[in-house]
Amino acid sequence: MSGHGTPIPMTSSPCGPLSGVAEVPGDKSISHRSLILGAMAVGETKITGLLEGEDVLDTAKAMRALGAEVIDHGNGSWSVHGVGVGGFAEPENVIDCGNSGTGVRLLMGAVATCPISVTFTGDASLNGRPMARVTDPLALFGTQAVGRKGGRLPMTIVGAVEPVPVRYEVPMPSAQVKSAVLLAGLNAPGQTVVIEKEATRDHSERMLAGFGAEITTEQTADGRVITLTGQPELNPQVIAVPRDPSSAAFPVCAALLAPGSDVLVPGIGLNPTRAGLFTTLREMGADLTYENERLEGGEPVADLRARYSPSMVGVVVPPERAASMIDEYPVLSAIAANATGITMMAGVKELRVKESDRIDAMARGLRANGVEVDEGADWWSVTGMGIGNVPGGGTCESFLDHRIAMSFMVLGMGAQNPVSVDDGGPIATSFPIFEPLMTQLGAKVSRD
Ligand code: S3P
Repeated sequence: MSGHGTPIPMTSSPCGPLSGVAEVPGDKSISHRSLILGAMAVGETKITGLLEGEDVLDTAKAMRALGAEVIDHGNGSWSVHGVGVGGFAEPENVIDCGNSGTGVRLLMGAVATCPISVTFTGDASLNGRPMARVTDPLALFGTQAVGRKGGRLPMTIVGAVEPVPVRYEVPMPSAQVKSAVLLAGLNAPGQTVVIEKEATRDHSERMLAGFGAEITTEQTADGRVITLTGQPELNPQVIAVPRDPSSAAFPVCAALLAPGSDVLVPGIGLNPTRAGLFTTLREMGADLTYENERLEGGEPVADLRARYSPSMVGVVVPPERAASMIDEYPVLSAIAANATGITMMAGVKELRVKESDRIDAMARGLRANGVEVDEGADWWSVTGMGIGNVPGGGTCESFLDHRIAMSFMVLGMGAQNPVSVDDGGPIATSFPIFEPLMTQLGAKVSRD
């Protein structure tokens, strides 16, 4: 459930060694993009390793509502019969993207240059998030958007009938905004250009090239300049989705905190635009190694081995690394609480507009468990207490945010007393097997 159902209170108790192999689910970002680009190609795209979390399942439903045939073959194996660029049909009903900012923002882009109207909604978290960051650039194509005050969902997108190509400099580091503009550019004639000052995850660019679109990326003094030639015919692909580094972060960090642990997390995507957490953990002194590094489907992949790391130290995380670990700051703060010294995280104001205000959510929960946190508009710092010295014993609000809930579960594994969350339900949006997987490694995670 993602905010529609009964809350699921959960508790994580201090545990002994975590050991074994943690097979985390497929990458969420790549899963959304596989379904959407598959639906915009002509013919059958085959996908294995798709994340079957609520966020991605909502995108699969949306693709069906827009006219693509999406078939679940079981075990993460899916196929999509696409309708071609510009071929989406007007859905008969409102599209509910649940908790997923990525789902709704990418879909808004994908329909923006089709001559159809589509109304989007989501859960309480998603309906509170800003959409003007996407609808502003889409307006340049000729797309109209009518939503609630402050550019919030529910919102209707009226696609441009005669779209024009766009040149757009993304004002904030956001792969969702960049991708929405690129997806809209697919059905505009001529060249759409997107400029980003800081590099964000580049799965859309890689996958568009894989589907046969003409797309180039150039590093200039102004940043990364991405040029897409519109109205291509996209060719269906065979896609093996790598496992999600953002989900791997939880068993990896848990292993660093639980005494005696040794956990292998195989087949993790290590695209440099996503791997900032692992760099930071190694700088802190974590016993984290990459084994069997390889390329799979155009993405770098490795097996991660994480062992109990009792002597981690606080670090300054450079702002220019923020985009490559933006979803991992919550769990990093649980590690920082167990390091010695202060960990300073700056240049992170985007954390305030995620599924929750993640600085506020983590600060409240960490303080409830005896950890000192300071914060400003775009920075926060955690004062480390040394491994195993976090008192715990607190109950934290998860604010309909999967990563907040899982980060507090990790905190509890290395604390002196259990740590609880009011609602672990949102975990199903991105990591539906979190509880059985962590339990099988030796964690003590329970529903209250
Ligand atoms: C994502 C981009 C990021 C990230 C989100 C997934 C994507 O959001 O936080 O979980 O798949 O493009 P922003 O674009 O808001 O930074």
